[in-house]
Amino acid sequence: MKATTRRLCVAAVMMAALTAGHVGLAGQQAAATPSPNASKLDYEFFRDQVQPIFLAKRPGRARCITCHATGTPRLQALADGATSWTEAQSRQNFDVWTRSVVPGNPNVSKLLVHPLARAAGGDVFHGGGQQWTSKDDPEWRLLAQWVTGGPKVGGAAAQSLSYKTRIIQTNAAGDDVHVIDPASNKVVSIIPGIEVAHGVVGAPAGDRLYFTNESLHTLDVVDSASLAIIKRIALSGRPNNLGVTNDGKKVYVGIAQAPGAVDVLDVVKLERIKTVPVDGSVHNVYVTPDGKFAVSGSVATSVISVIDTTTDAVAWTYKETSGIRPMIFDTNPDGSTRRIFVQLSNYHGIAVVDWATRKEVTRFDMADIAGETKELQGLQAAPAHGLAITPDKKMLLALSKWYGRMYAYSLADLKPIADLHVGHHPEWVSLTPDGKTAYIAAAGDNAVSVVDLATMKETAHIPVGQVPKRNTTAKMATRSAN
Ligand code: HEC
Repeated sequence: MKATTRRLCVAAVMMAALTAGHVGLAGQQAAATPSPNASKLDYEFFRDQVQPIFLAKRPGRARCITCHATGTPRLQALADGATSWTEAQSRQNFDVWTRSVVPGNPNVSKLLVHPLARAAGGDVFHGGGQQWTSKDDPEWRLLAQWVTGGPKVGGAAAQSLSYKTRIIQTNAAGDDVHVIDPASNKVVSIIPGIEVAHGVVGAPAGDRLYFTNESLHTLDVVDSASLAIIKRIALSGRPNNLGVTNDGKKVYVGIAQAPGAVDVLDVVKLERIKTVPVDGSVHNVYVTPDGKFAVSGSVATSVISVIDTTTDAVAWTYKETSGIRPMIFDTNPDGSTRRIFVQLSNYHGIAVVDWATRKEVTRFDMADIAGETKELQGLQAAPAHGLAITPDKKMLLALSKWYGRMYAYSLADLKPIADLHVGHHPEWVSLTPDGKTAYIAAAGDNAVSVVDLATMKETAHIPVGQVPKRNTTAKMATRSAN
């Protein structure tokens, strides 16, 4: 062999070794030699909190799983239709990915610095791009938390958790969720990676948010301090809205596919424990104020199904005259449910169903607005959509897509008090805990309208994502100063 050829050969072998280097570590060696870092890092934290980051969609960026299921370091390929890895696959992922970190030191761990923006201290180049723009990114902080093995991370470390009231706004045509601080009426954070969120509820303790994800058919569990998706729980079908029990232990999800069901999830164990068949595909589900029942409504069959939350069986049903849209409940002095206020398909008004007698007792139209033309585009047979009752039980609020308005009624006699313009296609309304302010999702404006209920004036119109629909007011754990 001539010297030149030999040098080329050596170079070629070295190249091959280099290219295979990552693969070799990740793939072949994994089985033979366990990762030296495995014993220093928490497997369950990795499985439940780190792995969802590999699946999450960041705006404008490809997902880690898209490349790394075939590239290096290797992620196990998801089974068809699976939204997460099996236990065995998670163990393999753990073995591979613990090699890309230096326990105790996030700032030199490849997993953290390779996909991080160069300006924020990241590597010069990553074939998968700059996935995080700063070390303050909630995902980055979560990874750092895993690597350091403690809850205290970087700059945020010194700050202890506090709980703040937030308005959580989903975006029905978006892939993210906006979080509004009602004190400043500013968007204070954006939760990425939830494509077509339908509904949202907050855990009563303030530690988590639960979203129904229409793109993946999952319940997405978000840690409210880190904003990371800690688990995606597979549902029995495409979901619509959801409710949470007052003790925070169970979540009820409406399945919007025929024949219709309500999934029951144990959110302590983070698993689906039951699928309750109901009459017709489900649009909205609510837990009654006393926590004793989950009430679902079907657009397809016009049936309301009342599920007992102790037995998770249907206790009774009631059939309306047309599709069941949003509902809200008022209470007797002992806290038990008194009436259901229901919005119906193709009806610009509210039907009132008495809980004790299980009959509609009255219904009333939401008044036409003289001189204003009705908006008829994209109504989806729901001219009226969105209800709320103030905590002092004085007012019932209802939204109109026809007129882009919020109507207020006195709950005592159901007489109109006021109405005002809130924006195009209002879809949903949540109130601050003091009942003074309403946050209305104006789907046609890509904005949230803020109304002061004492003066019945709009005080802000906050831009959010694409087609904002359901929202909620939740207590959230927060580490930052805001
Ligand atoms: C578009 C495809 C693509 C995406 C998306 C992607 N990567 Fe990569 N990644 C690569 C390629 C290619 C390499 C090897 C070349 C390189 O080092 O940049 C790589 C390398 C890496 C490495 C190894 C660095 C080293 O030198 O050991 C890590 C760690 C990594 N990626 C993490 C991630 C994480 C975490 C995500 C998601 C947040 C992600 N990647 C998203 C393509 C991708």
